[in-house]
Amino acid sequence: MMSIKQEIQKRRTFAIISHPDAGKTTLTEKLLLFGGAIQTAGAVKSNKIRKSATSDFMDIERQRGISVATSVMTFEYKNMFINILDTPGHKDFAEDTYRTLTAVDSVILVVDSVKGVEEQTEKLMNVCRMRNTPVIIFINKLDREGMRPFELMDELERKLDIKVRPLTWPIGMGKGFKGVYNLYEKNIYLFKSGKTTIEDDRLLVDDLSDTVLDDKLAGDAERLREEVELVEGVYEPFDTNDYLSGSVAPVFFGSALNNFGVRELLETFISIAPPPKERETDQRQVKPVEEKFSGFIFKIHANLDPRHRDRIAFLRVCSGKFERDKYFHHVRLGKNLRFNNPYNFMARSKNIIDEAFPGDVVGLYDRSNFKIGDTLTEGETFTFRGIPSFSPEIFRELVNIDPMKSKQLDKGIEQLTDEGVAQLFVHQDGRRKIVGTVGELQFDVIQYRLEHEYGASCRFQPMNYAKACWITSDDPGKLDGFMRAKSRHIYYDKDENPVFFAESQWLLNSAIENHPDVEFHFTSEFKTDTSIVNNGREAI
Ligand code: G4P
Repeated sequence: MMSIKQEIQKRRTFAIISHPDAGKTTLTEKLLLFGGAIQTAGAVKSNKIRKSATSDFMDIERQRGISVATSVMTFEYKNMFINILDTPGHKDFAEDTYRTLTAVDSVILVVDSVKGVEEQTEKLMNVCRMRNTPVIIFINKLDREGMRPFELMDELERKLDIKVRPLTWPIGMGKGFKGVYNLYEKNIYLFKSGKTTIEDDRLLVDDLSDTVLDDKLAGDAERLREEVELVEGVYEPFDTNDYLSGSVAPVFFGSALNNFGVRELLETFISIAPPPKERETDQRQVKPVEEKFSGFIFKIHANLDPRHRDRIAFLRVCSGKFERDKYFHHVRLGKNLRFNNPYNFMARSKNIIDEAFPGDVVGLYDRSNFKIGDTLTEGETFTFRGIPSFSPEIFRELVNIDPMKSKQLDKGIEQLTDEGVAQLFVHQDGRRKIVGTVGELQFDVIQYRLEHEYGASCRFQPMNYAKACWITSDDPGKLDGFMRAKSRHIYYDKDENPVFFAESQWLLNSAIENHPDVEFHFTSEFKTDTSIVNNGREAI
């Protein structure tokens, strides 16, 4: 029997993130191939909604089906248990991705070598920065004519605001792509396109001046020598601690489609990526090695069959040992619950499990006990931090169009917002309700699901709001004064925190200037919040 400590050391829980189309799905699939979790390429369904005008709720339903199947993918590689947490690529589901990032210990960021850093890449990186999540960057699609590698390095540092350190270096690109040079092992991995197997093809060179290089690489040999010299001159030697603290991102080059450069990435990943780390709660730090179990819910999936209201709650284990049929404490509800059929995601099938360890993700069947961010413990009362709601970008008023069904509507919208489909804000008068999302598609999802699962009908009325900020103040009188002055624009979130809605950035700025005693936040979690508008930049 392994000790809890040994179990923890074997676990690596991470997410692959990217702007849509950079190659996240393809890379995930290749990693699973290495792990033997799948046997053939093409087995991982693309977790995305087509970008065409045909994106409708059929696509959404399909997406929900796929994302249940791929939410967590666990495989074993070289005696490590690797949990990949899937993140939806579509921008409208960005909040789901942000929350999933709260449940991982590190990320691999995929960047398209042709497109460089894209909008979603920047936003996701901002979320990683909030928690100093260690990041490894994989520059993909080297088989295409892309940006020059030094140019890419500059763009990464500039737009992602992180130092980079290449660990491999490409030799040519596009049609002339020859392979990558491993700056650490000092060997060259020659490129063969269309490689779907996983055997090696390496060229060992003790020294870059070796003439075998000229034989194999012809004219590219000389350029490689120059570039490597430059790389070694420009970048500090790689220090794993800088990566672990989130200040330096090691960079790899390759082509996921051709399964090229993926092994380098995986090998380095298992040697440097952090095992489950200690986590902050509202009371104290919780270490994974603690004897007593604790964990939190970061994602909730409704049953695809609308006749069944049961849901799957995804629990990230943070400390101790999770056990089947044992009573655990649901901190928010103050009650004890046990789970008969908890399951894991090994080999992409559901297996009932008897126990789980820190870093693991457990699927729990739930009727309506959970909402996102809930903490489970072995009795102690604390709540994990770092699972905030993020400021939505689109706001609509929720209008009931069937007065006979207002109970169903209330219940439906409450459950859907518990699941994190959108955020609900209720005006001080208790009547007006605003639904806030990060994407248009969510409104279709909500309308469709309210109708099919709850029998309620609604309409969404556009609202003239551009920004929403949670507001706090050290001086309750000042906060009160502000809320009275702006009463039309103050709503409460689900936890009764006041939120100020501004019609434009300009109006928000002027509110900030005129009310120096009030603090404005872009996430619902204030103490660890790095995004206070007054003295920081906007996080998301
Ligand atoms: P995503 O999950 O990040 O959205 O990206 P995904 O893996 O689905 O990849 C997006 C497109 O990029 C796919 O092509 C995929 O085949 C292609 N791709 C991934 N890696 C590479 C690579 O290393 N080189 C090249 N040239 N292309 C790559 P698609 O035509 O959109 O989809 P499909 O029909 O091929 O699946």
